[in-house]
Amino acid sequence: MRKFMVSTSLLGLIAAAGFTASAKAAGDAAKGKETFEQCGVCHNTDTDEKKVGPSLKGLFKHEKLKSGKPVNDANVRAVINAGGNGMPSYQEILSDEEKDNVIAYLKTL
Ligand code: HEC
Repeated sequence: MRKFMVSTSLLGLIAAAGFTASAKAAGDAAKGKETFEQCGVCHNTDTDEKKVGPSLKGLFKHEKLKSGKPVNDANVRAVINAGGNGMPSYQEILSDEEKDNVIAYLKTL
């Protein structure tokens, strides 16, 4: 009986920790996927093939962006904000939250 209680409270702790972790996560990948629909015109996510822009499949598994900068949240956000070389600027188009969500989605690719 005692053993049972210990393990259920442990489970509760793990569930609570998991909940806080997901509540704190910067972006919502599922929502980001919807926002990404407007990016999908120019970017593949399921093949490495280039469309108008480079494929974003496995972006966060790459070491560097085309610009030579390391792939991290700040640099990817900078590309989304600034655009350039055929990529539109999303500085004014997407809210900060939408950018967080898109970045969370890109990490799942
Ligand atoms: C009109 C076409 C177009 C649209 C729409 C577009 N992009 Fe791009 N994107 C490009 C092009 C072209 C490049 C390459 C720019 C360069 O070579 O400097 C690029 C580059 C990128 C890169 C850098 C990739 C790398 O490996 O360096 C990221 C990240 C990116 N886009 C994300 C997005 C996101 C997120 C959206 C939607 C919010 C989006 N793009 C919408 C055309 C587009």
